[in-house]
Amino acid sequence: MGILTINKLTESMGAEISGIDLDQLLHDEDAPALIWNALREHGVLLFHDLGFTPETQVQFSERLGILDRSNGEQYNEPGIQRVSMDPKKNGGQETVKGTFNWHMDGCTLPVEKNPSPATILTCAVTSETGGETEFASTRAFLESLGDEEKDRLSKLRVVHSVAGSRRRVIPNPTPEQEAAWAAMQSREHPLVWRHREGRPSLIIGGTSDYIVGMDKEESRAFLDELVERATTPERVYSHTWSVGDTVIWDNPGMLHRVQPYEEGSKREMIRCTLVGEEPTE
Ligand SMILES: [Fe+2]
Repeated sequence: MGILTINKLTESMGAEISGIDLDQLLHDEDAPALIWNALREHGVLLFHDLGFTPETQVQFSERLGILDRSNGEQYNEPGIQRVSMDPKKNGGQETVKGTFNWHMDGCTLPVEKNPSPATILTCAVTSETGGETEFASTRAFLESLGDEEKDRLSKLRVVHSVAGSRRRVIPNPTPEQEAAWAAMQSREHPLVWRHREGRPSLIIGGTSDYIVGMDKEESRAFLDELVERATTPERVYSHTWSVGDTVIWDNPGMLHRVQPYEEGSKREMIRCTLVGEEPTE
């Protein structure tokens, strides 16, 4: 094999991939490089009916990079996270609801870890309403800005925190909630991530709390406006899931979110996350 069949999903990003089957993904020696090249170029890759089981999805993810096996520890099998509202399978509703806001994964990891380069997500059960996953490229957005603004943004640093994410879900927390959130992870990043390879991206979204050295309320409004501008409808690919769809996305270069779906939904995604090897600075 040598080439993938690619159908663009939008003008600026996203590609539907065909012409490659599960056996090739698991065994063909060219497959990982082909997938990475397509991912760098298109940001989001969509496959239909690969026939992944959790085991084969783990196997494929391990060919793409270092699989994060810590995900499964608490709830699931190693390497697999079942994204679900069921508290037996996941961190529960507050975590899921945090993903209804635009975000990049892994921004609040401890300092020795880096945001994941790619996530592999397969739909096991769809929701009855909503549940679409949406993507917008911050690489493309950053490129669209004028030099002066790029320069201004490149000097800023942002604190991301669990508190930042929870505050968006629960805007008026009790003092107890605030105290609990304050004790949870937080991490400072440059606003602009200059990558070793490829185009720079923005570290913004749902976990962002405030800009270092700026008034907190003012910086929250500034960051939210940046997200709004990066996710205007023409910049977004919205994926409506069918069971058996697999999506892989360039986490450092994409904001993503889930459209809200019904409480107690059986919606379930099988997720594999690659370990981030590139520091944000
Ligand atoms: Fe996410």
